[in-house]
Amino acid sequence: MSLAGQVALVTGASRGIGAAVAKALAAQGVAVAVNYFGSEAAAHAVVDDIIATGGRALAVKADARDRAQLEAMAATVQAQLGPIGILVLNASIGFPMAAFAQYPWQAFEAKLTGELGAAFHGCQAVLPQMLARKDGAIVAITSGLARHPGWGFCAHSAAKAGLEGFVRALACELGPMGIRVNAVAPGLTETDATAHLPEKHKQATADHTPLRRNGQAEDVAQAVVGLLQSGFVTGATLPVNGGIHVF
Ligand SMILES: NC(=O)c1ccc[n+]([C@@H]2O[C@H](COP(=O)([O-])OP(=O)(O)OC[C@H]3O[C@@H](n4cnc5c(N)ncnc54)[C@H](OP(=O)(O)O)[C@@H]3O)[C@@H](O)[C@H]2O)c1
Repeated sequence: MSLAGQVALVTGASRGIGAAVAKALAAQGVAVAVNYFGSEAAAHAVVDDIIATGGRALAVKADARDRAQLEAMAATVQAQLGPIGILVLNASIGFPMAAFAQYPWQAFEAKLTGELGAAFHGCQAVLPQMLARKDGAIVAITSGLARHPGWGFCAHSAAKAGLEGFVRALACELGPMGIRVNAVAPGLTETDATAHLPEKHKQATADHTPLRRNGQAEDVAQAVVGLLQSGFVTGATLPVNGGIHVF
């Protein structure tokens, strides 16, 4: 299924996985709105890269957790690029890593409302544009930690597992209206978010993976594009982790 000519909004696309998704979509002929929060220069660099290779792109600032900012962003993208047919929920919602016994409720609650709020408000902000055309595709970036948790990740695992449930619920409800909803669950992927992890930990994860390496942002982007091109797939969660989930 060709994606050429469509318009995509990718949240958190100034860096990491979101930036790679924006560039991969642009390479398929998609006009891309590159959402950023704090990294304005990085977002403009992504847009410049896309334009330099003949694509269409726009940098748009918005806090992906904020309903009013998301609605304003959706309207800006529609006015400048056209109706949004693809939404990639990628913005990284931060959380402290800590043992559950000491985990502060406020941090847990902020992660849950941030992650699920970004999905809820992001989808409702864009949905009218998809419903008007009875066509659309949404991909949420979840995490392998939703199903295979590790120490310190209680908030992240709960939020991402909730996001996967949300994806399946929306797939059911929106399918009859021509809108597909899927998730991509990356394993350890080398981005700024994982740069702080000790090399020993990263190597151990790679060694435990059938493909014997950790992910790159481009690996995840390729899977997002593949799901978007798969017109009969909805409600799915695709692990992108070198096969570590088989253990
Ligand atoms: N890296 C991994 O190993 C891994 C594994 C599984 C899942 N994931 C998921 O993949 C997604 C991307 O992660 P990443 O590793 O690419 O992270 P990253 O390199 O740290 O980049 C984070 C991106 O999210 C944006 N962002 C943060 N808060 C935002 C907000 N409130 N509103 C809008 N944008 C916001 C940042 O924008 P600014 O810089 O402009 O603020 C940046 O573009 C996340 O959902 C993460 O949970 C990552």
